[in-house]
Amino acid sequence: MNTILVTCATSTIGNRVVNNLRNAHVHVKAGVRNRAGARNMSGDNIDVVELDFEKPATYLAALEGVEKVLLILPVIPNQVEITDAFTKAAKEKGVKKIVLLSGLGADIKSTSDILRWHGEKEKVVRKSGISYTILRPGNFMQNYIKGCYSKMCGNGKLTLPQGDAKINQVDANDIAQAAANVLTNFGHKDRIYNLTGYSYTNMEIVDLISNITGKKIEYEDISEETARTKMKQCNIGDWMIEAMLGLQRACKEGLMEAYSMDLKNLTGKGPTTFAEFAIRHKTIFSS
Ligand SMILES: NC(=O)c1ccc[n+]([C@@H]2O[C@H](COP(=O)([O-])OP(=O)(O)OC[C@H]3O[C@@H](n4cnc5c(N)ncnc54)[C@H](OP(=O)(O)O)[C@@H]3O)[C@@H](O)[C@H]2O)c1
Repeated sequence: MNTILVTCATSTIGNRVVNNLRNAHVHVKAGVRNRAGARNMSGDNIDVVELDFEKPATYLAALEGVEKVLLILPVIPNQVEITDAFTKAAKEKGVKKIVLLSGLGADIKSTSDILRWHGEKEKVVRKSGISYTILRPGNFMQNYIKGCYSKMCGNGKLTLPQGDAKINQVDANDIAQAAANVLTNFGHKDRIYNLTGYSYTNMEIVDLISNITGKKIEYEDISEETARTKMKQCNIGDWMIEAMLGLQRACKEGLMEAYSMDLKNLTGKGPTTFAEFAIRHKTIFSS
């Protein structure tokens, strides 16, 4: 049986890829830290397995019988060390292919912790001795409707420290489709793909949302200090706040503006526009 392990299976991308693979009748191991979050993952071809990256004792059982892995790491400071330990376990278990979810702008020399971690994880996977494909998605559109990021969208205002930079926005559904295709089709050996949508300034995004909902939203470019205070109010830990601010700085410097044909080549269709995304989520944006 050709089994695919999806790590962080409850994450924005993991969850969608598990669904896509289920629909393609592929046998999937959904690696989760907490089974409670995996209640919607049922089906004859899905096994939910414990995989907590902070518990190396869970690695080998999760990797048992696995041919390919979609490796998604949580945003935690030791993710590079975890990638190293996990890929070694994958090699030991005879895994044939790793598809790594990295990020646009991944760079071992980046001043942004998150982009540097992506670059270092890529390096670990490239040197693992296992065939790989690296996926570098832009900013998930879903960030605008989820978690603390979305709270910064509240009260008729989007407040982010991103200046007037254009930032690449990609729909998680498109990323998941591309990832599922890479996992189930031949080829893609040792390739790096930039999974991009179109790039927008936050001013353009609030105008699109305002036009679709009929409710005026404004964008306010805030200082890092104000963003830090707002994130603290969301109970985010200090290291995560600094990592997020580093990423926002990279966005403001224009490092997240890019366009590539990779997504279209992998999915056979052009990327979802932010307008299409906002129409799909009109109820959330209107509330
Ligand atoms: N968000 C973006 O715009 C974006 C853009 C490019 C790349 N990325 C990358 O995509 C990856 C996932 O980010 P995301 O924003 O999609 O995350 P997310 O949706 O917030 O999900 C985080 C996931 O990490 C899991 N997790 C946390 N700690 C874990 C542990 N110790 N062991 C196993 N699983 C653990 C969570 O599981 P529980 O359900 O148990 O909490 C959850 O499934 C990151 O590497 C990020 O850098 C994100």
